[in-house]
Amino acid sequence: MILVTGGAGFIGSNFVLDWLAAADEPVVNLDALTYAGNLENLASLRDDPRHVFVRGDIGDGSLVAQLLHRYQPRAIVHFAAESHVDRSIHGPEDFIQTNIVGSFRLLEAARAYWRRLDDAGKAAFRFLHVSTDEVYGSLGKDDPAFAETNRYEPNSPYSASKAASDHLVRAYHHTYGLPVLTTNCSNNDGPYHCPDKLIPRIIHNARAEKLLPSYGDGQQIRDWLYVADHCSAIRRVLAAGRPGETYNIGGWNEKANLDVVHTLCAMLDELSPRADGRPYREQISFVADRPGHDRRYAIDAGKIERELGWKPAETFASGIRKTVRWYLDHQDWVANVTSGAYREWVGKQYGACS
Ligand code: NAD
Ligand code: DAU
Repeated sequence: MILVTGGAGFIGSNFVLDWLAAADEPVVNLDALTYAGNLENLASLRDDPRHVFVRGDIGDGSLVAQLLHRYQPRAIVHFAAESHVDRSIHGPEDFIQTNIVGSFRLLEAARAYWRRLDDAGKAAFRFLHVSTDEVYGSLGKDDPAFAETNRYEPNSPYSASKAASDHLVRAYHHTYGLPVLTTNCSNNDGPYHCPDKLIPRIIHNARAEKLLPSYGDGQQIRDWLYVADHCSAIRRVLAAGRPGETYNIGGWNEKANLDVVHTLCAMLDELSPRADGRPYREQISFVADRPGHDRRYAIDAGKIERELGWKPAETFASGIRKTVRWYLDHQDWVANVTSGAYREWVGKQYGACS
């Protein structure tokens, strides 16, 4: 079996669902259920013996050691993180604790477990660390896309904490020989995405007749990938990646934020028109920019394509259409996550726009 951390979050839950749809290898899912973790994402696995959910912190070394001892996984796929840049600006502490200290404790537990495996078990074991393109910093308009060889230049507490975890993972390979793999992916869209992030937030606010906040001039560029493609890339790296290597993952889909917002508005006009017949784009509102906002991300996914034969199945257009349809078809999920702690946070962060 495999141990997944953060498997109740956006990408982790998509990964667990896709993994168990594709094969029968069981998953132990360790997740602290922060505001971003949601067991509803995994409701279809409630009675499935192949999925063992454990609520707990990756920073709890003795819990992780117990799980490794009990379930003897052949791999750890590490998604658990504080993931939202805006939150990291308001309160970096949790990012340091989970992304750096938590990853360190997980690595320590993995190292102790791995050392005691027999030779075949040692050779087969993998620690796959899921990271982000944000560690590379911000690109200028004409710069080439991020390659795996780019220098690390993180600009937010979030990206700095992810960069630190990437360095720890690398060091555990070089120093101790732990068979690690690191993936650095671009922005994802898809089901179960917490609506504090751009795409689900725009869909939610549009339908709730709220403003659609565009930070600064809205011309910042992100490189979008449908979440199922991120999951298939991780499965491919886990199966065939070379220990110690890093792999960039992306869909060659650079888009300015404002263009993404306009695309979403046009899709909603078509699929779920406003009661008054007016276009959703009238709700767009330019708000104060994010401090230290990275201008452009772009991923060169050439290495994973060449070496591992991975390619995304979705284009930006096909992926975002699936995403919008999923949100329209899952109003209950959206209503549940937009209550309680989430509301408190958006009220504090976004004031009138929330
Ligand atoms: P998310 O915030 O939706 O989910 C994170 C999950 O981790 C939640 O279920 C949360 O409960 C859990 N978690 C947080 N702290 C924990 C702790 N201390 N112990 C155990 N569980 C904990 O995040 P996401 O968007 O699904 O991102 C998953 C991973 O992918 C992160 O490492 C992120 O850096 C990386 N990533 C995300 C994107 C993206 O577009 N969302 C792109 C590239 C890489
Ligand atoms: O690039 C990968 C990263 O993508 C991941 O590592 C992060 O975990 C993930 O959260 C995401 O980070 P971003 O900061 O790019 O995502 P977010 O959805 O917060 O913002 C996307 C862009 O949209 C960014 O330029 C800020 C802008 N934005 C965001 C929100 C929430 C807005 O203009 N308005 C908004 O309301």
